[in-house]
Amino acid sequence: MPGIKSFSKTFQWGFATASYQIEGSPDADGKGPSIWDTHTHKPSITLDGLNGDTATESYKLWREDISLLKSYGVAAHRFSLSWSRIIPDGSRHSRVNQAGIDYYRAYIQELLNNGIRPYVTLYHWDLPDALHQSYGGWLNKDEIVKDFVYYAETCFSAFGDLVKDWITLNEPWCVANLGYGTGVNAPGRSSDRKRCAAGDSKTEPWIVIHNQILAHAYTVQAYDNSYRETQEGQIGVALDSFWFEPYDDAPENVAAAQRAMDFRLGLLADPIFKGAYPPSMKKILGDRLRDFTSEELEVLHAGCTDFFGLNTYTTMLVKDGGVSDVLGHVTSTFTRKDGTVLGTESHVGWMRDYAPGFRKLLNYVHNTYKKPIFVTENGFPAKGENDKPFSDAIKDTDRVAYFRGYVNAMLDAHSEDGVDIRGYFAWSLLDNFEWADGYTTRFGVTYVDFATQERTPKDSAIFLTDFFKKHVPGQ
Ligand code: NOJ
Repeated sequence: MPGIKSFSKTFQWGFATASYQIEGSPDADGKGPSIWDTHTHKPSITLDGLNGDTATESYKLWREDISLLKSYGVAAHRFSLSWSRIIPDGSRHSRVNQAGIDYYRAYIQELLNNGIRPYVTLYHWDLPDALHQSYGGWLNKDEIVKDFVYYAETCFSAFGDLVKDWITLNEPWCVANLGYGTGVNAPGRSSDRKRCAAGDSKTEPWIVIHNQILAHAYTVQAYDNSYRETQEGQIGVALDSFWFEPYDDAPENVAAAQRAMDFRLGLLADPIFKGAYPPSMKKILGDRLRDFTSEELEVLHAGCTDFFGLNTYTTMLVKDGGVSDVLGHVTSTFTRKDGTVLGTESHVGWMRDYAPGFRKLLNYVHNTYKKPIFVTENGFPAKGENDKPFSDAIKDTDRVAYFRGYVNAMLDAHSEDGVDIRGYFAWSLLDNFEWADGYTTRFGVTYVDFATQERTPKDSAIFLTDFFKKHVPGQ
Protein backbone atom coordinates (compact mmCIF):
# COMPACT_ATOMS: atom_id res chain seq x y z
CA MET A 1 0.00 0.00 0.00
CA PRO A 2 1.60 3.30 -1.05
CA GLY A 3 2.43 5.59 1.82
CA ILE A 4 2.24 2.87 4.45
CA LYS A 5 5.49 1.63 5.96
CA SER A 6 5.88 -2.09 5.74
CA PHE A 7 8.08 -5.08 6.44
CA SER A 8 9.28 -7.29 3.60
CA LYS A 9 6.85 -9.85 2.24
CA THR A 10 8.88 -12.70 3.72
CA PHE A 11 8.57 -11.23 7.23
CA GLN A 12 7.66 -14.00 9.70
CA TRP A 13 5.27 -13.07 12.45
CA GLY A 14 3.56 -15.20 15.01
CA PHE A 15 3.53 -16.17 18.66
CA ALA A 16 5.95 -18.01 20.92
CA THR A 17 5.39 -20.75 23.49
CA ALA A 18 7.58 -23.13 25.51
CA SER A 19 7.07 -26.80 26.33
CA TYR A 20 7.02 -26.74 30.15
CA GLN A 21 4.81 -23.64 30.21
CA ILE A 22 2.00 -25.17 28.16
CA GLU A 23 2.19 -28.92 27.66
CA GLY A 24 1.26 -30.48 31.00
CA SER A 25 1.21 -34.34 30.84
CA PRO A 26 4.58 -34.60 32.57
CA ASP A 27 4.93 -38.36 32.24
CA ALA A 28 2.85 -39.16 29.16
CA ASP A 29 4.17 -41.57 26.53
CA GLY A 30 7.47 -42.28 28.22
CA LYS A 31 8.55 -38.72 29.03
CA GLY A 32 11.22 -38.46 31.73
CA PRO A 33 11.17 -35.75 34.41
CA SER A 34 12.85 -32.42 33.74
CA ILE A 35 14.44 -30.14 36.33
CA TRP A 36 11.25 -28.05 36.24
CA ASP A 37 9.12 -31.06 37.14
CA THR A 38 11.37 -31.79 40.10
CA HIS A 39 11.80 -28.15 41.14
CA THR A 40 8.11 -27.27 41.18
CA HIS A 41 7.20 -30.36 43.17
CA LYS A 42 9.11 -28.97 46.13
CA PRO A 43 7.13 -26.79 48.54
CA SER A 44 6.92 -22.98 48.23
CA ILE A 45 8.61 -22.70 44.86
CA THR A 46 6.01 -20.75 42.93
CA LEU A 47 3.93 -17.77 44.05
CA ASP A 48 0.70 -19.74 43.99
CA GLY A 49 2.25 -23.08 44.92
CA LEU A 50 1.22 -24.54 41.55
CA ASN A 51 3.31 -26.29 38.90
CA GLY A 52 3.22 -27.15 35.20
CA ASP A 53 1.61 -30.59 35.59
CA THR A 54 -1.47 -29.35 33.78
CA ALA A 55 -0.60 -25.86 32.43
CA THR A 56 -2.71 -25.27 29.31
CA GLU A 57 -2.91 -28.99 28.59
CA SER A 58 -1.42 -28.37 25.20
CA TYR A 59 0.05 -31.87 25.01
CA LYS A 60 -3.57 -32.92 24.50
CA LEU A 61 -5.10 -29.74 23.06
CA TRP A 62 -2.43 -28.97 20.48
CA ARG A 63 -4.77 -29.22 17.50
CA GLU A 64 -6.92 -26.55 19.10
CA ASP A 65 -3.86 -24.35 19.64
CA ILE A 66 -2.87 -24.68 16.00
CA SER A 67 -6.42 -23.76 14.89
CA LEU A 68 -6.10 -20.68 17.07
CA LEU A 69 -2.82 -19.75 15.39
CA LYS A 70 -4.46 -20.24 12.02
CA SER A 71 -7.37 -18.00 13.03
CA TYR A 72 -4.87 -15.27 13.97
CA GLY A 73 -3.38 -15.46 10.47
CA VAL A 74 0.22 -16.00 11.61
CA ALA A 75 2.99 -16.83 9.17
CA ALA A 76 5.08 -18.72 11.72
CA HIS A 77 5.08 -20.22 15.20
CA ARG A 78 7.93 -20.49 17.70
CA PHE A 79 7.73 -23.36 20.18
CA SER A 80 10.15 -25.56 22.08
CA LEU A 81 10.78 -29.28 22.23
CA SER A 82 10.90 -31.03 25.57
CA TRP A 83 14.28 -32.81 25.62
CA SER A 84 13.02 -35.43 28.10
CA ARG A 85 10.09 -36.38 25.83
CA ILE A 86 12.62 -37.18 23.12
CA ILE A 87 15.39 -38.67 25.28
CA PRO A 88 13.81 -39.43 28.68
CA ASP A 89 17.02 -39.29 30.70
CA GLY A 90 18.73 -36.88 28.31
CA SER A 91 21.91 -38.89 27.86
CA ARG A 92 23.73 -39.69 24.63
CA HIS A 93 24.23 -43.20 25.99
CA SER A 94 20.56 -43.99 26.30
CA ARG A 95 17.53 -44.57 24.17
CA VAL A 96 15.51 -42.17 22.05
CA ASN A 97 11.77 -42.23 22.79
CA GLN A 98 9.97 -42.77 19.49
CA ALA A 99 6.66 -41.62 21.01
CA GLY A 100 8.21 -38.20 21.71
CA ILE A 101 9.46 -37.93 18.14
CA ASP A 102 6.07 -38.99 16.76
CA TYR A 103 4.30 -36.41 18.90
CA TYR A 104 6.41 -33.50 17.69
CA ARG A 105 6.38 -34.70 14.07
CA ALA A 106 2.58 -34.71 14.11
CA TYR A 107 2.60 -31.24 15.66
CA ILE A 108 5.04 -29.85 13.09
CA GLN A 109 3.18 -31.50 10.22
CA GLU A 110 -0.09 -29.95 11.39
CA LEU A 111 1.54 -26.51 11.49
CA LEU A 112 2.77 -26.98 7.94
CA ASN A 113 -0.62 -28.26 6.78
CA ASN A 114 -2.00 -24.95 8.02
CA GLY A 115 0.66 -22.92 6.22
CA ILE A 116 2.50 -22.04 9.46
CA ARG A 117 6.30 -22.16 9.47
CA PRO A 118 7.81 -23.84 12.56
CA TYR A 119 10.61 -22.05 14.47
CA VAL A 120 11.89 -24.68 16.85
CA THR A 121 13.70 -23.98 20.11
CA LEU A 122 15.73 -26.96 21.27
CA TYR A 123 16.11 -25.85 24.87
CA HIS A 124 13.67 -23.68 26.78
CA TRP A 125 14.85 -24.47 30.33
CA ASP A 126 13.50 -28.01 30.88
CA LEU A 127 16.73 -29.98 31.24
CA PRO A 128 16.22 -33.74 31.74
CA ASP A 129 16.49 -34.13 35.51
CA ALA A 130 18.68 -37.23 35.20
CA LEU A 131 21.47 -35.10 33.73
CA HIS A 132 21.33 -32.73 36.66
CA GLN A 133 21.23 -35.56 39.21
CA SER A 134 23.92 -37.70 37.65
CA TYR A 135 26.60 -35.14 36.78
CA GLY A 136 25.41 -31.64 37.65
CA GLY A 137 23.79 -30.75 34.31
CA TRP A 138 24.94 -27.38 33.00
CA LEU A 139 27.79 -27.27 35.52
CA ASN A 140 29.61 -30.16 33.88
CA LYS A 141 31.17 -28.97 30.64
CA ASP A 142 32.42 -32.23 29.17
CA GLU A 143 29.20 -34.13 29.69
CA ILE A 144 26.58 -31.47 28.98
CA VAL A 145 28.11 -30.22 25.75
CA LYS A 146 28.22 -33.73 24.31
CA ASP A 147 24.73 -34.60 25.50
CA PHE A 148 23.28 -31.38 24.14
CA VAL A 149 24.89 -31.89 20.74
CA TYR A 150 23.62 -35.47 20.64
CA TYR A 151 20.09 -34.29 21.49
CA ALA A 152 20.30 -31.51 18.88
CA GLU A 153 21.48 -33.95 16.20
CA THR A 154 18.66 -36.34 17.14
CA CYS A 155 16.25 -33.46 16.43
CA PHE A 156 17.95 -32.39 13.18
CA SER A 157 17.69 -35.98 11.95
CA ALA A 158 14.12 -36.52 13.16
CA PHE A 159 12.57 -33.21 12.08
CA GLY A 160 15.02 -31.51 9.73
CA ASP A 161 13.09 -32.50 6.60
CA LEU A 162 10.23 -30.34 7.97
CA VAL A 163 11.99 -27.73 10.11
CA LYS A 164 14.21 -25.08 8.53
CA ASP A 165 14.59 -22.67 11.42
CA TRP A 166 16.33 -23.75 14.63
CA ILE A 167 17.02 -21.93 17.87
CA THR A 168 19.50 -23.70 20.13
CA LEU A 169 18.97 -22.07 23.53
CA ASN A 170 16.39 -19.78 25.05
CA GLU A 171 17.69 -17.02 27.34
CA PRO A 172 20.91 -18.66 28.53
CA TRP A 173 21.52 -15.61 30.76
CA CYS A 174 18.39 -16.45 32.75
CA VAL A 175 19.23 -20.14 32.88
CA ALA A 176 22.53 -19.20 34.53
CA ASN A 177 21.54 -16.32 36.77
CA LEU A 178 18.08 -17.39 37.88
CA GLY A 179 18.86 -21.09 38.09
CA TYR A 180 22.29 -20.84 39.78
CA GLY A 181 22.46 -17.24 41.09
CA THR A 182 19.21 -16.20 42.75
CA GLY A 183 17.93 -19.78 42.58
CA VAL A 184 14.32 -18.78 41.79
CA ASN A 185 14.34 -20.96 38.68
CA ALA A 186 15.21 -24.64 38.30
CA PRO A 187 17.43 -26.25 39.39
CA GLY A 188 17.18 -23.72 42.23
CA ARG A 189 20.83 -23.53 43.27
CA SER A 190 21.99 -20.54 45.27
CA SER A 191 24.18 -19.60 48.16
CA ASP A 192 21.84 -16.77 49.06
CA ARG A 193 18.41 -18.29 49.58
CA LYS A 194 17.52 -20.61 52.41
CA ARG A 195 15.27 -23.00 50.60
CA CYS A 196 17.65 -23.46 47.67
CA ALA A 197 20.06 -26.30 47.20
CA ALA A 198 23.50 -25.17 48.31
CA GLY A 199 25.24 -23.70 45.34
CA ASP A 200 27.88 -21.09 44.82
CA SER A 201 26.21 -18.02 43.35
CA LYS A 202 29.54 -16.29 42.90
CA THR A 203 30.95 -18.86 40.50
CA GLU A 204 28.24 -21.21 39.15
CA PRO A 205 26.33 -18.73 36.94
CA TRP A 206 29.52 -17.99 34.96
CA ILE A 207 30.31 -21.68 34.54
CA VAL A 208 26.78 -22.23 33.26
CA ILE A 209 27.05 -19.26 30.89
CA HIS A 210 30.32 -20.67 29.54
CA ASN A 211 28.99 -24.20 29.07
CA GLN A 212 25.87 -23.01 27.30
CA ILE A 213 27.97 -20.96 24.87
CA LEU A 214 29.94 -24.11 24.11
CA ALA A 215 26.82 -26.24 23.76
CA HIS A 216 25.53 -23.69 21.25
CA ALA A 217 28.82 -23.47 19.36
CA TYR A 218 29.33 -27.23 19.04
CA THR A 219 25.71 -27.65 17.94
CA VAL A 220 26.18 -25.06 15.21
CA GLN A 221 29.33 -26.88 14.17
CA ALA A 222 27.41 -30.17 13.95
CA TYR A 223 24.68 -28.44 11.94
CA ASP A 224 27.27 -26.92 9.59
CA ASN A 225 29.02 -30.26 9.13
CA SER A 226 26.10 -32.57 8.53
CA TYR A 227 22.73 -30.86 8.06
CA ARG A 228 22.89 -27.26 6.81
CA GLU A 229 23.44 -28.10 3.17
CA THR A 230 21.07 -31.03 2.83
CA GLN A 231 18.30 -29.55 4.96
CA GLU A 232 18.74 -25.97 3.68
CA GLY A 233 17.96 -24.45 7.05
CA GLN A 234 19.32 -21.87 9.43
CA ILE A 235 20.24 -21.83 13.09
CA GLY A 236 20.29 -19.10 15.73
CA VAL A 237 19.98 -18.50 19.45
CA ALA A 238 17.47 -16.51 21.54
CA LEU A 239 19.24 -14.06 23.87
CA ASP A 240 17.43 -11.80 26.30
CA SER A 241 18.18 -8.23 27.17
CA PHE A 242 16.66 -5.02 28.38
CA TRP A 243 17.64 -1.71 26.85
CA PHE A 244 19.76 0.14 29.42
CA GLU A 245 19.33 3.89 29.34
CA PRO A 246 21.87 6.04 31.23
CA TYR A 247 20.49 8.29 33.97
CA ASP A 248 22.08 11.29 32.23
CA ASP A 249 24.90 12.00 29.78
CA ALA A 250 27.64 12.02 32.41
CA PRO A 251 30.43 9.76 31.09
CA GLU A 252 30.36 7.51 34.17
CA ASN A 253 26.63 6.85 33.73
CA VAL A 254 26.97 6.26 29.99
CA ALA A 255 29.79 3.80 30.76
CA ALA A 256 27.65 2.10 33.43
CA ALA A 257 24.82 1.64 30.93
CA GLN A 258 27.26 0.10 28.44
CA ARG A 259 28.56 -2.20 31.18
CA ALA A 260 25.00 -3.28 31.86
CA MET A 261 24.55 -4.07 28.14
CA ASP A 262 27.81 -6.06 28.22
CA PHE A 263 26.56 -7.97 31.25
CA ARG A 264 23.07 -8.71 30.07
CA LEU A 265 23.69 -9.21 26.36
CA GLY A 266 27.41 -9.11 25.52
CA LEU A 267 28.26 -11.90 27.94
CA LEU A 268 26.53 -14.34 25.57
CA ALA A 269 26.34 -12.41 22.32
CA ASP A 270 30.01 -11.37 22.11
CA PRO A 271 31.41 -14.92 22.32
CA ILE A 272 28.72 -16.30 20.01
CA PHE A 273 28.90 -13.59 17.35
CA LYS A 274 32.41 -12.17 17.85
CA GLY A 275 34.31 -15.05 19.43
CA ALA A 276 35.31 -13.49 22.80
CA TYR A 277 33.86 -12.27 26.10
CA PRO A 278 33.47 -8.48 26.44
CA PRO A 279 36.69 -7.08 27.98
CA SER A 280 34.60 -5.27 30.64
CA MET A 281 33.22 -8.59 31.87
CA LYS A 282 36.63 -10.25 31.87
CA LYS A 283 37.89 -7.34 33.95
CA ILE A 284 35.07 -7.54 36.50
CA LEU A 285 34.64 -11.30 36.73
CA GLY A 286 38.31 -12.24 36.36
CA ASP A 287 38.94 -15.96 36.73
CA ARG A 288 35.30 -16.66 37.42
CA LEU A 289 34.80 -16.32 33.66
CA ARG A 290 36.67 -19.25 32.22
CA ASP A 291 38.93 -19.01 29.20
CA PHE A 292 38.05 -20.84 26.03
CA THR A 293 40.60 -23.45 25.00
CA SER A 294 42.19 -23.03 21.57
CA GLU A 295 40.00 -25.81 20.17
CA GLU A 296 36.87 -24.15 21.58
CA LEU A 297 37.93 -20.81 20.13
CA GLU A 298 38.26 -22.40 16.72
CA VAL A 299 34.74 -23.81 16.95
CA LEU A 300 33.38 -20.45 18.11
CA HIS A 301 35.06 -18.60 15.26
CA ALA A 302 34.27 -21.09 12.53
CA GLY A 303 30.59 -21.60 13.30
CA CYS A 304 27.97 -19.64 11.51
CA THR A 305 25.13 -18.63 13.79
CA ASP A 306 22.79 -17.38 11.11
CA PHE A 307 20.51 -15.07 13.05
CA PHE A 308 20.21 -13.16 16.29
CA GLY A 309 17.07 -14.09 18.22
CA LEU A 310 16.21 -11.27 20.60
CA ASN A 311 13.87 -11.65 23.57
CA THR A 312 13.09 -8.28 25.06
CA TYR A 313 10.41 -6.72 27.21
CA THR A 314 11.54 -3.46 28.79
CA THR A 315 14.06 -0.70 29.51
CA MET A 316 16.04 -0.01 32.70
CA LEU A 317 17.71 3.18 33.90
CA VAL A 318 21.34 2.93 34.99
CA LYS A 319 23.53 5.02 37.30
CA ASP A 320 27.16 4.41 38.10
CA GLY A 321 28.42 3.47 41.53
CA GLY A 322 26.00 0.84 42.57
CA VAL A 323 25.26 -2.23 44.42
CA SER A 324 26.40 -5.02 42.16
CA ASP A 325 29.96 -5.74 41.15
CA VAL A 326 28.86 -6.30 37.60
CA LEU A 327 26.02 -4.04 36.71
CA GLY A 328 26.70 -0.62 38.07
CA HIS A 329 23.45 0.42 39.60
CA VAL A 330 20.09 -0.18 37.96
CA THR A 331 18.01 2.52 39.55
CA SER A 332 14.60 1.93 40.98
CA THR A 333 13.39 5.14 39.39
CA PHE A 334 12.40 5.47 35.75
CA THR A 335 12.87 9.25 35.51
CA ARG A 336 16.06 10.50 33.89
CA LYS A 337 17.87 13.46 35.40
CA ASP A 338 16.43 15.72 32.67
CA GLY A 339 12.91 14.74 33.72
CA THR A 340 12.22 12.27 30.86
CA VAL A 341 10.06 9.48 32.20
CA LEU A 342 10.69 6.05 30.69
CA GLY A 343 7.22 4.94 29.81
CA THR A 344 4.48 3.66 32.04
CA GLU A 345 4.26 0.91 34.63
CA SER A 346 3.03 -2.60 34.01
CA HIS A 347 1.68 -4.84 36.73
CA VAL A 348 5.05 -6.44 37.26
CA GLY A 349 7.82 -4.54 39.02
CA TRP A 350 10.64 -5.25 36.57
CA MET A 351 8.78 -4.15 33.52
CA ARG A 352 7.72 -0.84 31.93
CA ASP A 353 6.05 0.00 28.67
CA TYR A 354 8.72 2.08 26.89
CA ALA A 355 8.82 1.44 23.14
CA PRO A 356 11.63 3.95 22.29
CA GLY A 357 13.97 1.68 24.30
CA PHE A 358 13.00 -1.23 22.03
CA ARG A 359 13.92 0.77 18.93
CA LYS A 360 17.28 1.70 20.46
CA LEU A 361 17.97 -1.93 21.40
CA LEU A 362 17.17 -3.13 17.87
CA ASN A 363 19.59 -0.54 16.47
CA TYR A 364 22.22 -1.57 19.02
CA VAL A 365 21.97 -5.27 18.16
CA HIS A 366 22.03 -4.51 14.42
CA ASN A 367 25.08 -2.23 14.67
CA THR A 368 27.00 -4.38 17.12
CA TYR A 369 26.38 -7.90 15.82
CA LYS A 370 25.49 -7.31 12.15
CA LYS A 371 23.18 -10.32 11.81
CA PRO A 372 19.56 -10.64 10.70
CA ILE A 373 17.35 -10.22 13.76
CA PHE A 374 14.30 -12.22 14.75
CA VAL A 375 12.48 -10.81 17.74
CA THR A 376 11.91 -14.19 19.34
CA GLU A 377 9.90 -12.83 22.30
CA ASN A 378 8.19 -9.60 23.27
CA GLY A 379 5.09 -9.17 25.37
CA PHE A 380 3.27 -7.69 28.32
CA PRO A 381 2.40 -9.22 31.71
CA ALA A 382 -0.82 -8.43 33.49
CA LYS A 383 -1.25 -9.69 37.01
CA GLY A 384 -4.65 -8.12 37.54
CA GLU A 385 -6.25 -10.28 34.86
CA ASN A 386 -6.69 -13.08 37.37
CA ASP A 387 -8.89 -10.92 39.54
CA LYS A 388 -10.86 -9.26 36.78
CA PRO A 389 -14.13 -10.60 35.45
CA PHE A 390 -13.51 -12.53 32.24
CA SER A 391 -15.25 -9.87 30.12
CA ASP A 392 -12.73 -7.26 31.32
CA ALA A 393 -9.71 -9.53 31.15
CA ILE A 394 -10.17 -10.09 27.43
CA LYS A 395 -10.32 -6.32 26.87
CA ASP A 396 -6.61 -6.04 27.59
CA THR A 397 -6.24 -2.35 26.77
CA ASP A 398 -2.83 -1.93 28.41
CA ARG A 399 -1.41 -4.92 26.51
CA VAL A 400 -2.80 -3.52 23.25
CA ALA A 401 -1.16 -0.15 24.03
CA TYR A 402 2.13 -1.94 24.74
CA PHE A 403 2.06 -3.94 21.49
CA ARG A 404 1.00 -0.89 19.48
CA GLY A 405 4.04 1.01 20.74
CA TYR A 406 6.47 -1.87 20.33
CA VAL A 407 5.50 -3.11 16.87
CA ASN A 408 5.45 0.45 15.54
CA ALA A 409 8.88 1.07 17.08
CA MET A 410 10.07 -2.10 15.30
CA LEU A 411 8.57 -0.88 12.03
CA ASP A 412 10.43 2.43 12.43
CA ALA A 413 13.66 0.60 13.23
CA HIS A 414 13.17 -1.45 10.06
CA SER A 415 12.02 1.22 7.62
CA GLU A 416 13.71 4.36 8.96
CA ASP A 417 16.86 3.05 10.61
CA GLY A 418 17.54 0.16 8.21
CA VAL A 419 17.67 -2.53 10.90
CA ASP A 420 17.48 -5.98 9.32
CA ILE A 421 14.49 -7.54 11.14
CA ARG A 422 13.16 -10.76 9.66
CA GLY A 423 10.47 -11.79 12.14
CA TYR A 424 8.56 -11.12 15.34
CA PHE A 425 7.10 -13.58 17.85
CA ALA A 426 4.86 -12.11 20.51
CA TRP A 427 4.96 -13.74 23.93
CA SER A 428 2.66 -15.56 24.26
CA LEU A 429 -0.02 -17.39 22.35
CA LEU A 430 -1.72 -18.42 25.60
CA ASP A 431 -1.82 -17.43 29.24
CA ASN A 432 0.41 -20.10 30.74
CA PHE A 433 2.65 -21.27 33.57
CA GLU A 434 4.90 -18.27 34.23
CA TRP A 435 7.74 -20.05 36.05
CA ALA A 436 8.22 -18.82 39.64
CA ASP A 437 5.09 -16.67 39.28
CA GLY A 438 2.98 -19.80 38.70
CA TYR A 439 -0.29 -18.76 37.09
CA THR A 440 -0.46 -15.35 38.80
CA THR A 441 0.99 -13.50 35.82
CA ARG A 442 -0.67 -13.73 32.45
CA PHE A 443 1.20 -12.94 29.24
CA GLY A 444 -1.21 -14.46 26.71
CA VAL A 445 -3.02 -12.82 23.83
CA THR A 446 -5.47 -15.66 24.37
CA TYR A 447 -7.28 -15.89 27.70
CA VAL A 448 -7.15 -19.36 29.25
CA ASP A 449 -9.72 -20.40 31.81
CA PHE A 450 -7.54 -22.85 33.73
CA ALA A 451 -10.55 -24.64 35.19
CA THR A 452 -12.09 -25.53 31.82
CA GLN A 453 -9.10 -24.94 29.47
CA GLU A 454 -11.35 -22.78 27.32
CA ARG A 455 -9.35 -20.39 25.14
CA THR A 456 -10.70 -16.92 24.21
CA PRO A 457 -8.90 -14.33 22.07
CA LYS A 458 -8.14 -11.08 23.86
CA ASP A 459 -8.17 -7.70 22.12
CA SER A 460 -4.38 -7.88 21.83
CA ALA A 461 -4.65 -10.93 19.54
CA ILE A 462 -7.01 -9.02 17.29
CA PHE A 463 -4.74 -5.98 17.34
CA LEU A 464 -1.64 -7.96 16.28
CA THR A 465 -3.51 -9.82 13.55
CA ASP A 466 -4.69 -6.50 12.05
CA PHE A 467 -1.32 -4.83 12.43
CA PHE A 468 0.60 -7.50 10.54
CA LYS A 469 -2.10 -7.80 7.90
CA LYS A 470 -1.55 -4.11 7.18
CA HIS A 471 2.22 -4.11 7.38
CA VAL A 472 3.36 -7.33 5.73
CA PRO A 473 2.68 -7.28 1.99
CA GLY A 474 0.68 -10.28 0.83
CA GLN A 475 -0.59 -11.19 4.33
C1 NOJ B 1 11.21 -15.15 29.03
C2 NOJ B 1 11.03 -16.60 28.80
O1 NOJ B 1 11.67 -17.08 27.67
C3 NOJ B 1 9.58 -17.04 28.84
O2 NOJ B 1 9.59 -18.40 29.09
C4 NOJ B 1 8.84 -16.23 29.88
O3 NOJ B 1 7.57 -16.72 30.13
C5 NOJ B 1 8.78 -14.80 29.39
N1 NOJ B 1 10.12 -14.30 29.14
C6 NOJ B 1 8.04 -13.86 30.33
O4 NOJ B 1 8.68 -13.74 31.54
